[in-house]
Amino acid sequence: MKRFNLISGMVLLVAAGLVVIGSQNTPWSQDNTALKGFGKNLQVLQFNNLIELQTYMKGLTEALGVDCKYCHDLTAFEKDIEDLHKDEARAMMKMTQHINEQFFKESEKQVNCFVCHRGRTEPVFSLKEWKQIQESEK
Ligand code: HEC
Ligand code: HEC
Repeated sequence: MKRFNLISGMVLLVAAGLVVIGSQNTPWSQDNTALKGFGKNLQVLQFNNLIELQTYMKGLTEALGVDCKYCHDLTAFEKDIEDLHKDEARAMMKMTQHINEQFFKESEKQVNCFVCHRGRTEPVFSLKEWKQIQESEK
């Protein structure tokens, strides 16, 4: 009897876990649009699977302090939309790759979007500016 409870408890836990994972995935599971677009229009980046791409894109939103829709049409992630910032981001990806290839190939640490952008679309390049921003956000 005890054993049965333990097993059904575990089943419940796993099911609850899946629900949690599922709900965290919203931009991705939304009609599976991300999955449908994946691999159709990658010109700079390379990913082995959707999870890798997901991790990278989530990092992008954090590095710039934006949502997916800053760069994407949420119904078709592969599309390039002129009014959004996907093209600019692509140019920045090339630049970042170039810097890393050229100068940091053997380095443990590599340049990424956050290095310049610090969670904002407008990059921050001086300590003075950074302090002013922090002051104004208090
Ligand atoms: C700052 C801009 C930017 C943000 C924010 C961003 N992306 Fe992207 N995303 C890109 C760029 C640029 C590409 C194409 C890269 C390439 O050409 O190699 C891309 C590619 C993709 C692709 C692959 C499309 C294809 O053609 O294979 C998917 C799916 C995707 N993004 C999903 C997302 C999701 C979901 C989010 C939010 C969590 C997000 N992106 C946030 C810029 C962005
Ligand atoms: C070496 C510093 C540096 C790095 C690294 C960098 N950026 Fe930028 N980024 C800039 C600068 C500088 C500008 C502003 C250009 C301008 O104002 O004309 C900019 C502008 C942008 C813009 C346009 C913002 C706007 O409001 O028009 C986007 C989008 C962007 N970067 C995305 C990225 C992404 C994505 C990455 C990582 C792949 C990245 N950047 C990495 C320096 C950097």
